[in-house]
Amino acid sequence: MTRKKQPTIYTLPDEFQAFDFAQDLLYWYDAQKRDLPWRINRDPYRVWVSEIMLQQTRVETVKPYYQNFMQKFPTVEALATAPEEEVLKAWEGLGYYSRARNLQAAAREVTVSYGGVVPDTPEEISKLKGVGPYTAGAILSIAYEVPVPAVDGNVMRVFSRLLLMDDDIAKPATRIKMEQLVKQTIPIGRAGDFNQAIMELGALVCLPKNPQCLTCPVFDYCLARREGVQDTLPVKGKAKPPRPVQLLTAVVKRGNQYLIQKRPEQGLLASLWEFPMVEDAGTKDDEEQLLRLLEKEYGLQVDLGDYLMNVQHTFSHLHWNVDVYVMQHISGEPLKENAVFVTSEEMSQYTFPVLHNKIIAEITAKEEKW
Ligand code: ADE
Repeated sequence: MTRKKQPTIYTLPDEFQAFDFAQDLLYWYDAQKRDLPWRINRDPYRVWVSEIMLQQTRVETVKPYYQNFMQKFPTVEALATAPEEEVLKAWEGLGYYSRARNLQAAAREVTVSYGGVVPDTPEEISKLKGVGPYTAGAILSIAYEVPVPAVDGNVMRVFSRLLLMDDDIAKPATRIKMEQLVKQTIPIGRAGDFNQAIMELGALVCLPKNPQCLTCPVFDYCLARREGVQDTLPVKGKAKPPRPVQLLTAVVKRGNQYLIQKRPEQGLLASLWEFPMVEDAGTKDDEEQLLRLLEKEYGLQVDLGDYLMNVQHTFSHLHWNVDVYVMQHISGEPLKENAVFVTSEEMSQYTFPVLHNKIIAEITAKEEKW
């Protein structure tokens, strides 16, 4: 008989006093936790929205977006039935827009399959779009007190130090190991507070650079601090640097209107609006490439214009370097689907990526002179 390979079971180091650690950490958390808008109650929908917004985004950035979003979409049903454009508009500037689209798709799923109640089991909640192991753990523990871990990069940093672990936190296997270890430290009845206390420690004390060990409430338990190696942890393999992409953009002006178009429904910045863009082939001069794009794809004749600006944006895997030109419309109506001329005032009803909002700001500033 062949046996399946059994997964490794990891246990806490003997010298780590998990029970006392959790008590001291919670004592500190109860006294010092920040007043954050998603902490006013444990409504699973509110927790869910906060956890999605907080992925890859800082607490201070999220706060105003969260308040506005909860006002516009206070319930799962409100989000499920809202037009996608409105949801994207409320997300504008937060980045990673697939989070917003997935959140809405999942809200629809919760409405249809679970009567509007966010599910409270790992199996069901993990099936929702955009809900990975971290988010599932955060919602289940904070909203429902299910004793499961919520391990993100910050939690891995804290635990690498607490338990003196030199595993590479960029590796998926390390997360699995961490989840097992964190689970063994969760105190009965306070899973949500415990997970949030670890996050709080990571945000306020156990900082990536210069951890504040002298004011740390769990100083006595930290195995890395005992060895004096807290500054060398966590170990993190280098991610690939973002690939540089050279792009050209045309701001096509017709009277007081500008040509904008909607991006495809799939892929990077899906469904957001932008000024026409093309990857710089580097073979011809910039304006020539834009003239061809506008003629071939949009059916528009334009006059050569002026260089407006350079804008850049870094995504996790790409770095866009964009040269922007203003071109005067001569003739033709936009042939391309989802391409329209709008005034700068009308643009505020559309959702643009941050980079294109910088172009809009420049146009608005210059408009009076044109
Ligand atoms: N980061 C992710 N989730 C958080 C939470 N619930 N509170 C504070 N920071 C967080």
